[in-house]
Amino acid sequence: MSTARTADLWWKNAVFYCLDAETFRDSDGDGAGDLVGLTERIDYLAGLGITCLWLMPFYPSPNRDDGYDITDYYGVDDRLGTLGDFVALVRTAKDRGLRVIIDLVINHTSDQHPWFRTARRSANSRFRDYYVWQDEPQDEPDAEVVFPDAEDSIWSWDEQAQQWYLHHFYGHQPDLNIASPAVREEMAKIAGFWLELGVDGFRVDAVPYLLETGGIDGELQLDPHSYLKDLRSFIARRRGDAVLLGEVNLPTDELVAYFGDEQADEIQMLFAFPLMQQLYLSLARQDARPLAAAVRELPEVSEQSQWAIFVRNHDELTLDKLSDDEREEVFAAFGPDESMQLFGRGLRRRLPPMLDGDQQRLRLVYSLMFSLPGSPVLFYGEEIGMGENLDIEGRLSVRTPMQWTDGKNAGFSDARPSRLRRPVTEGQFGPLAVNVSDQERDPDSLLNWMQRLIRRRRETPEFGWGAWQLLDTGDDAVLGHQCDWEGRRVLALHNLSSSPRELRVAVPDTGASEVVDLLGSDGKALELENGRLELKLEGYGYRWLRVRPSTA
Ligand code: NOJ
Repeated sequence: MSTARTADLWWKNAVFYCLDAETFRDSDGDGAGDLVGLTERIDYLAGLGITCLWLMPFYPSPNRDDGYDITDYYGVDDRLGTLGDFVALVRTAKDRGLRVIIDLVINHTSDQHPWFRTARRSANSRFRDYYVWQDEPQDEPDAEVVFPDAEDSIWSWDEQAQQWYLHHFYGHQPDLNIASPAVREEMAKIAGFWLELGVDGFRVDAVPYLLETGGIDGELQLDPHSYLKDLRSFIARRRGDAVLLGEVNLPTDELVAYFGDEQADEIQMLFAFPLMQQLYLSLARQDARPLAAAVRELPEVSEQSQWAIFVRNHDELTLDKLSDDEREEVFAAFGPDESMQLFGRGLRRRLPPMLDGDQQRLRLVYSLMFSLPGSPVLFYGEEIGMGENLDIEGRLSVRTPMQWTDGKNAGFSDARPSRLRRPVTEGQFGPLAVNVSDQERDPDSLLNWMQRLIRRRRETPEFGWGAWQLLDTGDDAVLGHQCDWEGRRVLALHNLSSSPRELRVAVPDTGASEVVDLLGSDGKALELENGRLELKLEGYGYRWLRVRPSTA
């Protein structure tokens, strides 16, 4: 593999960091974070070692779904700044070696978008066909509402239009009709616009819903994947190394189709939702087998495809692919109180409170996240161990202001606390105990540990590029896997139980005689005898090891 190609396929060994400018840093004291505030903190992110920022929606929006309800795809919402601020942000990020991807929300608009306002007013308007209308909603037995707390059908009656319109999400988010060539043209223009402004790709929102054409009239039926191919080839023409990172929460065997034919012509990166859900089951049981099964099932990727590995994101921690009993086990372990659960399928908590703040176990989980096959995606605040605020409604509980200091408003804003758009987290995981400033000074802090982990991960491309294989650890509580790439091999061992383990790990096909610890502080080599590695792991212990070729 030439270094030129590894640079082009940068997402194979990238570390992503997702944030919403609104909750990161408020530069003008109005109580909401903004693009200028974020730009001022780019050095913090570069110092942490992440390589690509994923910006959650910043477009003009009535903000009824935290910006995922867009009224203008070409702008920046006033509360966050201006288009000029956006360009300055991208320029600054590039200067510090960071890439930037942004959310592309093409499944729906806000009902306040001028397209929808015009469409509902007149059946003759050219915008009518931008959305999906029916005189009588078709029966779609499989179609489930995404937010069952707010909606009971994917169809809503519109008084003005005197027709029903389709919306998989909230009623105020009408679905776009992607079978319409005009809508496709609009979306290409939008993607092209932001590429010209320097973004490196897009996190594509709600992909499977976008392709659900059940409600679209017969004449307009299309091969759903053909749209993704169109979009991808348009983007590739504009910018060869732009990435698409797709939100596709489907069972593993259905996921892989979204990489496209030969895994080459649709989305390059997909979130590993099924793997993430099995990881929580394994954590709850202190048993590595569910996770091992998920790793075994994870389809191999092509040279350009990649899994996005995450443990938390901005939404509920969805456990929808687990059986009811399994989900109950995870609820019992990590969110027993009903107030911690959402939609009957997920948890609205961050990881540290779920693990009762156990630092060793927390690090075990991030060590897994950074070594499982793929590229890791962090959600802001994970690097310092922020918690959630359950007093905030629904999914917003995990989207509290970034905790910079132990001072006023966690150093997020100079506004009067009552003016903050969202309150700061309080208690054990609040800013008095968890903040950047304190952790920067403490060599043993999670922040400094995470920074070292990120550096090591970037230096270990085998995890991103390599062919993976499970190892026989002889212990159900311990996940072992290896990644091979370009004649190099790394091993990773993770003890999901709280008790120490003595292991004899079988390392296949190696003429090597020793392995070197990549994370520990002493860097001592361990002997590999006849393909067997003997070692101890403490409770929730983890190791990354590089196999050193035999010199004999
Ligand atoms: C998925 C996003 O992650 C979520 O936050 C949003 O509410 C829906 N898509 C609708 O856009």
